[in-house]
Amino acid sequence: MPSRLLHFRLNGDDVEIAAPDHWTLLEVVRYRAGLTGSKQGCDKGDCGACTLHVDGRAVLSCLTLAADVEGRAVTTIEGLVGPGGPDVVQDCFDAAGALQCGFCQPGMMMAARQLVTENPDATRDDIKAALASNLCRCTGYTKIYEAVENACRRARGEADAPATAERAAS
Ligand code: FES
Ligand code: FES
Repeated sequence: MPSRLLHFRLNGDDVEIAAPDHWTLLEVVRYRAGLTGSKQGCDKGDCGACTLHVDGRAVLSCLTLAADVEGRAVTTIEGLVGPGGPDVVQDCFDAAGALQCGFCQPGMMMAARQLVTENPDATRDDIKAALASNLCRCTGYTKIYEAVENACRRARGEADAPATAERAAS
């Protein structure tokens, strides 16, 4: 089976990874790099569970050929955690109680991270549109939207919505 050496930046580190030519980015990060945060859900572009960032933009890694990220910067959910702890989006999902089984969450958070970065003034409709490709079978979405609204508030230097702040304090 033909394979190639891939060179790209993965969560801030330069990596060299050998993988079959036809492998997707999702396969490379999960089965070569051992980063299993990006989930292999539908594996055909329908669920969003595999969402990660390439050069800061959310992509479906199950539909991205690994060869296409040569020389680029890939960030997975594992890379969202910084030296100071979880990213604000991760923290807001936790504070809002937006997690149940968790399978959708890495992809959901990566899509949300791009939105919060690009549009901290996002409305509820903007958030719904940004997360429209990310499916959740558990939560009913309301707490996810609240979490992203709070992440936007924090990005604007504002406090969480009162309901979330009360829940976190109790
Ligand atoms: S696993 Fe990629 S969209 Fe479902
Ligand atoms: S929390 Fe279970 S699929 Fe979203």
